[in-house]
Amino acid sequence: MSTQVATTQWHETMHIDDLWDGDMAPVEVDGTKVLLVNVGGDVKAYLNRCPHQAWALDEGDLDGETLTCIRHMWTFDVTDGTGINPDDECLTTFGCEVGDDGVIRVDVG
Ligand code: FES
Repeated sequence: MSTQVATTQWHETMHIDDLWDGDMAPVEVDGTKVLLVNVGGDVKAYLNRCPHQAWALDEGDLDGETLTCIRHMWTFDVTDGTGINPDDECLTTFGCEVGDDGVIRVDVG
C-alpha cells in the first residue's frame, strides 16, 4: 500500500513592496496564470481566470474586498474567493505566503 503525501512547492513571485494594500497584480507561476491581491496587508493568490468564461480577472475592478470581472460583472469576495453574485461560484485559490524577506511565494499545486 502506498501513501501520497502532498508537498508544498513555493514559487517566488514579486516583492510585497510592489503590491500595495488594495492592489492586484497578474503573475505567472510555473506556467499558471495567477492573480495576487493585497487585501488589508493580507496577500491572496487566485487563478487569474473568471469561473464564468475564463476572462482575465486582473482586467476587472477591485473595490475594497470586492473584485468585479469586467466581462459580465460577476463579483467575488477577495478575502476568501467566494462568489458574491452569483453566490454559487468561487475563485480557485492557491497557497500563498509572504516571507521574512518580503517575497510573495505561491504554491500552485
Ligand atoms: S467571464 Fe467573468 S463574468 Fe463572464
